[in-house]
Amino acid sequence: MRMYDLILKKRDGGELTRAEIDYFVSGYTRERIPDYQAAALLMAVFFRGMSSRETAALTMAIVNSGDKINLESITGTKVDKHSTGGVGDKTTLVLAPLVAAAGAPVAKMSGRGLGHTGGTIDKLESIPGFNTNLEPDAFIKQVKATGIALMAQTGKLAPADKKLYALRDVTATVDSIPLIASSVTSKKIASGADAVLLDVKCGSGAFMKTVAEAGQLAAAMVDIGKLVDRRMTAVVTDMGRPLGRMVGNALEVREALDTLRGGGPDDLRELCLTLGAHMLVLGRLEQSTAGARRRLEKILSGGEALRKFRALVEAQGGDAAVVDNPDLLPAAAVKHTLLAPDSGFVLSVDPMRVGRSAMLLGAGRMTKDDKIDYAAGIELQKKPGEPVSKGEPLAVLHTNRQKSPDEAAAVAEGAFVIGRQPPDDRPLILDTIS
Ligand code: URA
Repeated sequence: MRMYDLILKKRDGGELTRAEIDYFVSGYTRERIPDYQAAALLMAVFFRGMSSRETAALTMAIVNSGDKINLESITGTKVDKHSTGGVGDKTTLVLAPLVAAAGAPVAKMSGRGLGHTGGTIDKLESIPGFNTNLEPDAFIKQVKATGIALMAQTGKLAPADKKLYALRDVTATVDSIPLIASSVTSKKIASGADAVLLDVKCGSGAFMKTVAEAGQLAAAMVDIGKLVDRRMTAVVTDMGRPLGRMVGNALEVREALDTLRGGGPDDLRELCLTLGAHMLVLGRLEQSTAGARRRLEKILSGGEALRKFRALVEAQGGDAAVVDNPDLLPAAAVKHTLLAPDSGFVLSVDPMRVGRSAMLLGAGRMTKDDKIDYAAGIELQKKPGEPVSKGEPLAVLHTNRQKSPDEAAAVAEGAFVIGRQPPDDRPLILDTIS
């Protein structure tokens, strides 16, 4: 086989065979295929797309490029969850203990944040002592003992994805539906999931800007599931605004704790109940999402989800006292309040700008080796649809980095649009594909 022929075939709109895709993925991972040929093929895929069969073959080739976690010794259907990334998205911190408290075994690997989006692992590590670097055996043992474990994804899992993603990042080929779909689902399959709930974010703060595009990505991932025998449901959800009011690691843990206590912002609670209900159905613990939702509501109000979160923190060496006293979480030395320049209604809050501002405050990484400040971030005092008077606080910026966070403040200020009339309501859940 020659890489030249694969590039030519895809360039001219042909369908690659499984053997050809395996040849490309294993050759590139072993550095037998140079970057320039891999980049040419990725660009051909970007323009020509891939059939469901090709996308499923690419997914399994990526899965087979590295280690696979075997979760078979854990009883029950292992349902994982993935979000395509958003601003203020602390859903996993609530959802994982919530579904674990309902009896679904949670053995979850998560990532770190990069750029304007955060990562679950950074959020958990803002809890003093919390260890996310578990060995696979300890990870499985903990799930058997407590019903839940969350660890950082290891480099040995899906190494082809790591290499391909780095190449896509510098060749303008990230935003291709088959490439995103195979990248996301391969990591879930390699980490041992029997079933996966996909939260496909849609809007200005997400990869997919329109409901139509997000729906295509969702359908591509559900199709992969059918072809590789994993149950998958995808929910398209709004990322035209930040989720909840807190953005930044320790701030998001605080908001997750409020939600686990039965409070928290409405959008976060709603998203967790919707996604959690699908997870219980995927895990065959409930037959209908309506019944699953009722069960999850009871678990939240009865404090069982909060108890499960405490068990998780204790099992992974974290300071469980933060669960009852979030003031023990890292706090910033500088707090800077943004005031409303006008009276009216908040029409929109741009998640990209909020994410970028939080990153400038120290909450995120510009490059993957940057150190983050767990205390940094933004507390939104106003969300879209809310009335505001001139001079009222719009947001509080938390940082240890600068005395006067001018650049971050200017970016955050540009996120808010205030108008005379309230905006139309935007639904949070935009589509469901299963
Ligand atoms: N997230 C992933 O894991 N992969 C992509 O390709 C895009 C987003």
